[in-house]
Amino acid sequence: MYNLLKGKKGIIFGALDSKSIAWKVAERAHEEGATFVLTNAPIAMRMGTINELAEKTGSQIIPADATSSEDLENLVEKSMEILGGKIDFVLHSIGMSINVRKGKHYTDSNYDFTHKGFDVSALSFHRVMNVLYNKNAMNEWGSIVALTYMAAQRVFPDYNDMADNKAYLESIARSFGYFFGRDQKVRVNTISQSPTPTTAGTGVKGFDGFIKYADEMSPLGNATALDCANYTISMFSDLTKMVSLQNLFHDGGFSNMGVSTKVMDLFVGDE
Ligand SMILES: NC(=O)c1ccc[n+]([C@@H]2O[C@H](COP(=O)([O-])OP(=O)(O)OC[C@H]3O[C@@H](n4cnc5c(N)ncnc54)[C@H](O)[C@@H]3O)[C@@H](O)[C@H]2O)c1
Repeated sequence: MYNLLKGKKGIIFGALDSKSIAWKVAERAHEEGATFVLTNAPIAMRMGTINELAEKTGSQIIPADATSSEDLENLVEKSMEILGGKIDFVLHSIGMSINVRKGKHYTDSNYDFTHKGFDVSALSFHRVMNVLYNKNAMNEWGSIVALTYMAAQRVFPDYNDMADNKAYLESIARSFGYFFGRDQKVRVNTISQSPTPTTAGTGVKGFDGFIKYADEMSPLGNATALDCANYTISMFSDLTKMVSLQNLFHDGGFSNMGVSTKVMDLFVGDE
């Protein structure tokens, strides 16, 4: 370990169970010397195993529904009290689509579901930054990261309305990141991660197919949740302090591929 986050204070959203990307980020942040508060939606507290992670990393948990500005205000105020000062890093690792969950086809969306999914998966990122910005809660050169997926740029049919939510999320990173950088010297980025077998990931129809496809297409294969955590730690560290407003692909090279020999071989007949 490199002590990359020694003395840094953070808030980590979205650790549900040990498969969650946020869980791995919390474990790695702890190993790198950070202290942080863990948070998740109150309902996730009952379903998941976040207490185990809190114990392991010596962290406190503050429940917050990321669609409630009131909850987020309470979270940020309490976090600063617990951690004894302003925040250096924030991970937004939140996603949910009711259309996906209920198997509604993209061409036949239930718009109440669409609204809710948008609120949870995209607008929540704006809300989180709004509260941090207005409370002047971030230290200079602090780093805010949200996790996203390449369906924001390319078509993945079963990713459904999450594709639109991710496009909006990435746009918020740029738009809010401008003001956060200009006014408070805080950087904001999104990390676009490979398909990863987590609760949110495996909930997408056809996940088994597209995780294998991505693995065969990528020169390095798929990035794991732990790989994603390592990259996120580097984005929280001082080594990346001039990186902002970026959507950073963390996918073993997938996003720049046209076709790989492995995938092409599947379509070559006996000639
Ligand atoms: N798994 C993948 O294939 C993959 C790929 C690229 C990006 N991502 C993104 O990574 C992030 C983390 O997902 P994951 O794969 O670790 O799955 P996960 O299911 O472990 O995490 C999703 C989290 O969102 C939380 N959440 C849902 N509604 C919430 C609310 N109202 N308030 C606060 N939290 C809420 C859940 O409780 C859960 O902890 C998501 O943004 C996801 O879209 C995942």
